[in-house]
Amino acid sequence: MNIYLIGMMGSGKSTVGKHLSVMLGIPFLDLDHYIEVKHQKSIADIFKEYGEARFRELEFEALSQIETSSVLVACGGGIILDSRNRKKLQSSGKVVFLKASIPELTKRLGNVTNRPLLKEKAVRKELNHIWQKRKDFYEKTAHLTVDTKKRSPKEISEDIFNRIKS
Ligand code: S3P
Repeated sequence: MNIYLIGMMGSGKSTVGKHLSVMLGIPFLDLDHYIEVKHQKSIADIFKEYGEARFRELEFEALSQIETSSVLVACGGGIILDSRNRKKLQSSGKVVFLKASIPELTKRLGNVTNRPLLKEKAVRKELNHIWQKRKDFYEKTAHLTVDTKKRSPKEISEDIFNRIKS
């Protein structure tokens, strides 16, 4: 069974994922990084050159290629937009939603340079817009929701670890 971390950009999926994978003794895979290595291009360049729709296809392909064994996968924030991805996540592992408030995410993403969806518009406004479109998907896809408010990646990882083990 895999473990999938989902949540908005800046919710801490990669940082928590690295901690948690060590605690669980299983490999960690960052899906965006996997796509970048596979296609030899940064996510920003994929968006710029091919557009978001193409990126979503590459994201779907990448998720489909991950074996269901014991891997901890940090997913890109938009993974839940595609119903095929939601199905794969739910059926092949435990889905953990890292929930963070918009003000918190705005603070963390203040100086974005590598997130194509946040480049041009005011970060807080755009995050809010994205959140409204996605919140139901995050909540419905997750087996477990973890509040990240005022907690360190280590505390969040311990919480997930205990809840997975119990
Ligand atoms: C996206 C989130 C990014 C990356 C891409 C699109 C999104 O990943 O996949 O820029 O749609 O929310 P992170 O959530 O790891 O930043």
